[in-house]
Amino acid sequence: MSTDGVDNSKRRFLTIAATGAVGAVGAAGAAIPFIASWNPSARAKAAGAPVEADFSKLQPGQMLRVEWRGKPVWIVRRTEQNLKDLAGLTGSLRDPASAIVDRQPSYAVNEARSIKPEIAILVGICTHLGCSPTYRPEVAPADLGEGWKGGFFCPCHGSRFDMAGRVYKNVPAPTNLEVPPHMYLSDTRILIGVDEGNA
Ligand code: FES
Repeated sequence: MSTDGVDNSKRRFLTIAATGAVGAVGAAGAAIPFIASWNPSARAKAAGAPVEADFSKLQPGQMLRVEWRGKPVWIVRRTEQNLKDLAGLTGSLRDPASAIVDRQPSYAVNEARSIKPEIAILVGICTHLGCSPTYRPEVAPADLGEGWKGGFFCPCHGSRFDMAGRVYKNVPAPTNLEVPPHMYLSDTRILIGVDEGNA
């Protein structure tokens, strides 16, 4: 059991379903021990429609996966410990302050790279050659080492990203994971693909 009360071994990915050109989706309450693909309608794909997601059931440490413009987008509710750990990782990261401007909207240029610190919204595509990294929220697992505070590991060539999608030094990926444009419709509902600037 971790310090935040969430059993890492039981943290579960949630999958979602959606209908219509704008996918109104909800976090599934059932335990699903893998990430399933989500297939938006052909019309939504073609239009690159914004995707609405409801993450009200997302518990600390859990991830919800949606798809926007054919790309996986992750919604992660970070734990308090995750947020505390972000500051201590600065020296290990290539772009800790999100200085590369095209990796995130301006409202995500902060330590957590997000509007609400506890909620990460990230495009789940490695910035090296486009694999989808694996969510690894556990702290210091044997294969990732003592310094691992949770984050995303790309199995293709070993790139590592922290819980804010910030890339570590000395890995093939050159930049942080992308934060897509997004805006909050309520405390637990977001629209991915548009923001206050272009809604
Ligand atoms: S595609 Fe992720 S490390 Fe190469």
